[in-house]
Amino acid sequence: MTAVVVAAAGRGERLGPGVPKALREIAGEPLLVHAVRALVAAPSVDLLLVAAPPDQIAAVRALLADVVPDRVGLVVMAGGSTRTESVRRALDVLPAEVEIVLVHDAARALVPAALVEAVVAAVRAGAGAVVPGVPVADTIKTVDGAQVVTATVDRSALWSVQTPQGFSRVVLVAAYQAARNDDAGQSIEATDDAGLVERMGGRVLVVPGSAEAFKVTRPLDLVLAEAVLAARRASR
Ligand code: C5P
Repeated sequence: MTAVVVAAAGRGERLGPGVPKALREIAGEPLLVHAVRALVAAPSVDLLLVAAPPDQIAAVRALLADVVPDRVGLVVMAGGSTRTESVRRALDVLPAEVEIVLVHDAARALVPAALVEAVVAAVRAGAGAVVPGVPVADTIKTVDGAQVVTATVDRSALWSVQTPQGFSRVVLVAAYQAARNDDAGQSIEATDDAGLVERMGGRVLVVPGSAEAFKVTRPLDLVLAEAVLAARRASR
């Protein structure tokens, strides 16, 4: 079985004040609804574990009731105070039959189903950890506290990584366990899940990502998301 953990418990402060990010609307529907629709359009996905804002669990269940088809299981649970904690809570309730686990940001609401399938396929082909990635477009510099550039990083080695990230269950669970055990019980926080696999020395494979898997983070991203949806409707 293949399960997707959907991290949807963030507040989304960079988007400005308002409801939690996963519940912000584009084209009249919450980001989370768009994300879940994309995930269930991928035939490999059997189960969704949604980490929701703790005060929105009933609302999220109601929102997703008509979006998730009968063939896909749905568990909605309270997320934690960090993304790592939200994912950890979902991993704690993974059913025994799950062998492949994807972790997806609800904020990457427009991910193409084909990308989800490509990530699953790479795990099935033997990779323990898989991330979709795209080469960075900008030149990246490091900057110190006085706003002075300290270095320019070699761009040819830099990739932006997206979600869904895919894992064999044993690899992901071991990575989260290792993070919990390090630093005398202080849990390590990671901005992505593959980062925890890297920390324990694991190999992470990159597959081609998609421009449409961008993370809705800032107000302009909402405009871009609306435009992508409009373009999809027009090409149907
Ligand atoms: O903050 P960031 O953009 O990295 O969040 C990425 C994803 O992680 C979002 O979809 C957000 O809802 C989720 N998240 C979460 N629990 C948190 C913080 C973020 O599920 N405590």
